[in-house]
Amino acid sequence: PWPAPRDLRGRPLRDLRLSVIDACNFRCPYCMPADRFGDGHGTRSADRLTFDEIEVLVRASVRLGVRKLRLTGGEPLLRKRLPVLVSRLRCIEGLEDIALTTNGALLAPLAAPLKRAGLSRVTVSLDALDADRFRLLSGGRGHVRDVVAGIAAAGAAGFPPIKINCVIQRGVNEDQVDGLIEYARRGGHVLRFIEYMDVGSCNGWRPGMVVPAEELRQRIERRWPLRLLPPNHPGEVARRYGFVDGTGETGFISSVSAPFCGDCLRARVSARGEFYGCLFAAEGVPLRPWLERGEEVVADRLAELWRRRDDHYSELRATAGQARPGRKVEMFLVGG
Ligand code: GTP
Ligand code: 5AD
Ligand code: SF4
Ligand code: SF4
Repeated sequence: PWPAPRDLRGRPLRDLRLSVIDACNFRCPYCMPADRFGDGHGTRSADRLTFDEIEVLVRASVRLGVRKLRLTGGEPLLRKRLPVLVSRLRCIEGLEDIALTTNGALLAPLAAPLKRAGLSRVTVSLDALDADRFRLLSGGRGHVRDVVAGIAAAGAAGFPPIKINCVIQRGVNEDQVDGLIEYARRGGHVLRFIEYMDVGSCNGWRPGMVVPAEELRQRIERRWPLRLLPPNHPGEVARRYGFVDGTGETGFISSVSAPFCGDCLRARVSARGEFYGCLFAAEGVPLRPWLERGEEVVADRLAELWRRRDDHYSELRATAGQARPGRKVEMFLVGG
């Protein structure tokens, strides 16, 4: 067995968030605004990690203690032959959970093949149910009916309750909350509200655009009484609440108002194979040169990077009361 590394704050490495592609078919203004990123934006396919390289990376991470893998993008379903990748990763002993975060637009035809390949769970982003609002929030690219069909297909394919991630922005989609809750409850999905964050450098984030989780919870509570539920696992980012009337649960990810860096056990790797210790890191460390040298070399290198990790950006932001100026990796490069 490999010694499990701890970072400078004593945190072990448990989760890996791996971007399989940095292209996206949406242009959500808070992530990849259309006026900054043209239609063809994304790393050339030759610069993306191959399935072989990804497998080496994941095997090395599992040696160091990773138990959960989340495939992200950009939009991960744009990556060709994704079910093949999943079926390869599924065979890695010690990896307990393979999840996917997607915008859902391409999910309907892929849900069943991904389930058969061994994907454990699916999370879909959805910020509005109203067709025009959705269109706007996807940068004029997406149709909400496709996403709704994708979620239904994932349910039908036999996945456990689908998680739906929703970012509420002040004055932009606050009016969508009730409809989203009703929709999620009807379908047995777990709707989770993520506070709008100052990720990257192009969304013009201001503290006033954040709807704090506690405010949202109180608003929801007036119509649907809630009770706090215990975390599913240590270090879970969402605070969970059950609906008192018995049907379903919801959750809040308060990364701005109540940061959770203290138990951040996540490493992120971009599609071109750069390691990031934090969603707000300025730059990544290239792993690609090590990947061809095999699993053990990569495990050593990753352990070394992890031991040096001191990231706790959201705590610093909370203390400073404002975003840090300067370079931060873009959301679509590390998949959230
Ligand atoms: P499970 O609990 O296993 O379902 O995974 P998860 O909640 O980590 O997955 P998901 O990708 O759905 O996370 C939801 C969102 O929370 C992400 O897209 C990010 O926006 C945010 N988030 C997740 N991890 C972090 C983190 O380490 N730091 C910050 N600031 N935000 C995070
Ligand atoms: N703040 C919070 N969440 C964001 N996401 C993308 N950009 C931001 C942001 N600036 C969310 C997406 C998706 C997940 C990957 O991250 O809506 O659910
Ligand atoms: Fe694409 Fe997701 Fe970014 Fe929207 S938030 S532009 S769907 S990567
Ligand atoms: Fe982890 Fe960085 Fe998010 Fe803190 S801000 S929880 S260190 S990713």
